[in-house]
Amino acid sequence: MKEMAEIEKNLEWESLGFNYYRTEWNARFYYRDGAWSEMELSDSEYFPMHISAACLHYGLEIFEGLKAFRGIDGRIRMFRPEENAARMQSSAAKLCLPAPTTEMFVNACAEIVRRNPDFVPPYGTGASLYLRPLLIGTNPVLGVKPATEATFIVFASPVGAYFREGLRPISAVIDRDQDRAAPRGTGDVKVGGNYASSILSGSRAHGLGHSNVLYLDTHERKYIEEFGAANFFAVRGNTYITPKSNSILPSITNKSLRELAPTLGLEVEERPVSIEELESFDEVGACGTAAVISPVTKLIDIQTGRIYSYGDHIGRYSQKMFDALQDIQYGRVEDKFGWMVDVE
Ligand code: PLP
Ligand code: COI
Repeated sequence: MKEMAEIEKNLEWESLGFNYYRTEWNARFYYRDGAWSEMELSDSEYFPMHISAACLHYGLEIFEGLKAFRGIDGRIRMFRPEENAARMQSSAAKLCLPAPTTEMFVNACAEIVRRNPDFVPPYGTGASLYLRPLLIGTNPVLGVKPATEATFIVFASPVGAYFREGLRPISAVIDRDQDRAAPRGTGDVKVGGNYASSILSGSRAHGLGHSNVLYLDTHERKYIEEFGAANFFAVRGNTYITPKSNSILPSITNKSLRELAPTLGLEVEERPVSIEELESFDEVGACGTAAVISPVTKLIDIQTGRIYSYGDHIGRYSQKMFDALQDIQYGRVEDKFGWMVDVE
């Protein structure tokens, strides 16, 4: 077994990217004979697995991503963990995996935050502690069938803002060469396979100097779906517009923005969004746990060569939504929605 990486505690918080850093403790639960074990805490980054485990062969793997923030008052809070628990349960249902209960999920996340206090970045650095809950089918298989044994793991890694300056404009491409998710497939749940099928087009976009791929619907290639690791939103006038589709991931950030938008004077439309509308938008952005809000100032349609530009500055409403969301996450304003869960 490989030696564990040294634990590096004196991280340069301001320059953290979205990378894995070893923390001290992770949590594991094992599902066997129809029941979940108690939580086991481990200080190892590894765990033994059967060479024929279902997750290794047939992609029986789902995950989540959420953040814990050290607030302006020094307290540590997680953002909407019950929502991630619910989404993990719907992902598990779609892959016929046994699901952790909401209580197991939220308690394990809180425990891992409490056990890794040195890795929760200080307030004011723009960094946070990212939690990665992971559920895999572990029993040996050769035939394709539902897993009878599973392991649920929660580990943490401190992360910086996805784009270093926080709210930094990015460019993205529309790529019709590779689809991310089929209409009645797994696009609406958080399974590893969705990311596997976005790697090639993502690499192509990076090779062309862009940060992200915007996927279209696979049937007509007419409607906007989402980015590779974030939902799509646009602002036109005083309306927040975001796609409705059964093959995109129901983003908790997007859901929160739809709830915040009316408090900022925005109306909300969640509906099919045609690519023909792209030229009419005032602001376009990607939203998600890792991305928070990333304004997209340029969209390039690879196949048609068409370029959509949204100025070189951060849109007024993107900035307002970013501030309103982070004010709640860092405890700078009252959490009227009851989103934050105090872990102390
Ligand atoms: N869409 C995809 C494909 C994602 O990977 C993510 C990241 O989790 C999101 C959207 C945003 O979801 P959330 O806001 O819940 O993080
Ligand atoms: C997140 O925003 O939590 C994600 O899961 C994105 C990740 C795939 C990089």
